[in-house]
Amino acid sequence: MYTCICNAIREDDLRKAARQHRGGAESVYAKLGKRPNCGQCLEEAEGVIAEEREALACPLAAA
Ligand code: FES
Repeated sequence: MYTCICNAIREDDLRKAARQHRGGAESVYAKLGKRPNCGQCLEEAEGVIAEEREALACPLAAA
């Protein structure tokens, strides 16, 4: 599933990048070589990133 349609960023790729890079959605997008266009995805992307980092901090939280 795509989180960002404008940049064709898949949720799985966003989760992987969130584990490897610091910062919010715009920073993580930049690490993927992308930048927001319409911005419609940013709220969802922030949620995905936060969720992934929470799971990383406490693997049992994701279970
Ligand atoms: S959907 Fe992500 S910038 Fe448009």
